[in-house]
Amino acid sequence: MADLADKLNRPLLDAAGLVEGCRLLDLASGAGEPALSAARRAGPDGLVVGSDLVPGMMAGAVRRARSVEGPAPAFTAADMTALPFADAAFDGVTCRFGIMFVPAVETALREVRRVLRPGGKAAFMVWGSRAGNGLFAEIGDAVADHLGEDGSLDPLFRFAPPELLSDLMRAVGFAETSETDLTPVRKAPAGQPFWHAALDMSFGHRLGGLTAEQRKALEADIARRFDARAVDGIVPVPSHARIVVGVAG
Ligand SMILES: C[S@@+](CC[C@H](N)C(=O)[O-])C[C@H]1O[C@@H](n2cnc3c(N)ncnc32)[C@H](O)[C@@H]1O
Repeated sequence: MADLADKLNRPLLDAAGLVEGCRLLDLASGAGEPALSAARRAGPDGLVVGSDLVPGMMAGAVRRARSVEGPAPAFTAADMTALPFADAAFDGVTCRFGIMFVPAVETALREVRRVLRPGGKAAFMVWGSRAGNGLFAEIGDAVADHLGEDGSLDPLFRFAPPELLSDLMRAVGFAETSETDLTPVRKAPAGQPFWHAALDMSFGHRLGGLTAEQRKALEADIARRFDARAVDGIVPVPSHARIVVGVAG
């Protein structure tokens, strides 16, 4: 997803006000983005800390950081509902596709506000509607046809309703909020299983029980659905993300 990732990272880092010399905390960094991109932008005089609930994810991010040139983030395990950082320690906070997985979201938002200096910005990237996200919608529809609907994708789209996350941010004391929708179209190669990682990530817990034949039939159906959209060997895959920004009062 590197092509799409770059289209999403730049506006997210802009929204968090990241410039050279900034101190930025990235939450739920997973495999390392956008912390890795942020560290290059913050430069040698800045400080970027990448963090994730799962220590094993951070070990992978550290390995990736070693393979890219330029300033690297510091990575540490951290639960965003109990951040191990001092008050007002950061100029900005980013979180790409992470906040929707936190049950105690208001606790997390209070923690984000606490670690931001007054006037610092928090920028969350969340998914827009399922229908606007072709990758998940197509895979989800195929899985539902083969195995039945079980709501596995629902958490992804928790903050799809406009203003829902903004309202929660203002409720915990963010002074101003704003929302920006992004709708980049990914260009994927027809005939390639570019959708495979998304299938495993979102439905791995259901696929384990399938026989080899059932799995083959499901994957053939997904491939057929995407290939039916191809134009000149390229499958256009629409996506819909939203950046929600709050300014710490
Ligand atoms: C979909 S991944 C996003 C990873 C990365 N930011 C990206 O955009 O590729 C969601 C991440 O949220 C992390 N996460 C879930 N709950 C968390 C929490 N309470 N605190 C910090 N990270 C959490 C998960 O461990 C996972 O790595």
